[in-house]
Amino acid sequence: MSLNRFDQEADPIVRLSDISKRFPNGTLALDKVSLEIPRGQLLCLIGLSGSGKSTLLRHVNGLHKPTSGSVDVMGMRVSEAANKDLREVRRHVGFVFQQFGLINRATCLENVLSGALGRLNWPRYGVRSYPKQLRRLAFDHLDRVGLADQAYQRADTLSGGQMQRVAIARSLMQEPQMLLADEPVASLDPESSGQVLELLLKIATEENMTVICTLHQVELALGWAHRIVGLRAGKVVLDRSAIGLDQRDVMDVYQRVDVTGAPTSDEDVPTSISNS
Ligand SMILES: Nc1ncnc2c1ncn2[C@@H]1O[C@H](COP(=O)(O)OP(=O)(O)OP(=O)(O)O)[C@@H](O)[C@H]1O
Ligand SMILES: [Mg+2]
Repeated sequence: MSLNRFDQEADPIVRLSDISKRFPNGTLALDKVSLEIPRGQLLCLIGLSGSGKSTLLRHVNGLHKPTSGSVDVMGMRVSEAANKDLREVRRHVGFVFQQFGLINRATCLENVLSGALGRLNWPRYGVRSYPKQLRRLAFDHLDRVGLADQAYQRADTLSGGQMQRVAIARSLMQEPQMLLADEPVASLDPESSGQVLELLLKIATEENMTVICTLHQVELALGWAHRIVGLRAGKVVLDRSAIGLDQRDVMDVYQRVDVTGAPTSDEDVPTSISNS
């Protein structure tokens, strides 16, 4: 794969050009979505359940191909890429999701180390089977997410917020250029959710890493995102810097659509968004 012609600094790391996705069952999950996402941006993707957030994320790492339009990631046209090239792109893209996906019986450090497995040639068993320099790196990542003291604690004894931070540290072992996070705080209490968003913002800002994060909690998006994109029935209905944006600007995104595709009246707009 050639990433050479891609200007690392100047070009957007993700470019979605007019993508639509219709699943074989007829559902139109994305409807002419265009977005350019630069390096170092924490972009929060919001919208009602079923509005297309996860589908959009899955187009970015090539798990879905659009029905029309194109997806470019780090200079590669992933919407037309062969599997070999997709694997190469995915090596640079970390994925964090709601269920954490940790190995329960392993320590935090082992879990973080397992993030480097894609770079190693054979399976590893236990912390000592990894090269020393990777062990040091894993420990540094745990330190960055505030969990150095828990390095040798079993993952299943951590709180949910701590588990998610271990999962983020694990994805950093892959040395990604971008993180995709699908509802990373859906099962966390407000305080832990804030800590995870704070961490994602820190990673985006300090590492100049692009983070695309789907969320149901508008307050968190307003509090932490650089940019908020709202989807309604697969269409982008909001795309703004989070600065100067307030809850009322955002609630419009949550208008439901009737069967004709038109937004329904204000009466149907929820006053708060539950995580459903
Ligand atoms: N593989 C699939 N086959 C058919 N339809 C699908 C598939 N994946 C998603 N959909 C449909 O596409 C639409 C968008 O789904 P998506 O999962 O992207 O929504 P979402 O915004 O992530 O919702 P949630 O907030 O509940 O996670 C939904 O109507 C969903 O049923
Ligand atoms: Mg989803």
